[in-house]
Amino acid sequence: MDSLASKTYSEIIEYILKNHHSYLKRELPEIERLVFTIYKVHFFDSGDVLEKVHKLYGQLKATLESHIIKEERALFFDIKDYEKRPSRALLEKVLQGINNVEKDAEEVVEILKNIRETTKDFELPPTSCPTFDNTYKKLQELERELYNHIEVENKILFNRLKNEK
Ligand SMILES: [Fe+2]
Repeated sequence: MDSLASKTYSEIIEYILKNHHSYLKRELPEIERLVFTIYKVHFFDSGDVLEKVHKLYGQLKATLESHIIKEERALFFDIKDYEKRPSRALLEKVLQGINNVEKDAEEVVEILKNIRETTKDFELPPTSCPTFDNTYKKLQELERELYNHIEVENKILFNRLKNEK
């Protein structure tokens, strides 16, 4: 990730799309299916926890889908335009977009903490099954992946743009 700091804006964006956004596009529907399945199958033994996890995951997925749309339909284009033809007006537009995306990232972090709390750090119940195991494993992988994603965007891409001011 350190080597990203010396890359151009377009290169960092390519990196994010290839590594972080493609992961979400692939995994979000799959994890949704898993969360729904364990909620249904383990309704009688873990229903209380899984009702909350199911709801929180739904919020997380919706926020992340907005995140992808905001970046891929607008913000990333604006950053690439700014890179080609820097102007004060375009930088203002970019910074507004960053502000918006950063608020979503805060929401994502809140939901992740909430999922961790609800599941007591992904503790498996005695009635667990391979699908339950796999779902919690995938949720933890998603959590790790999202912290990396947010770090690359905030600390490398957005911070550098903020310093252009
Ligand atoms: Fe992103």
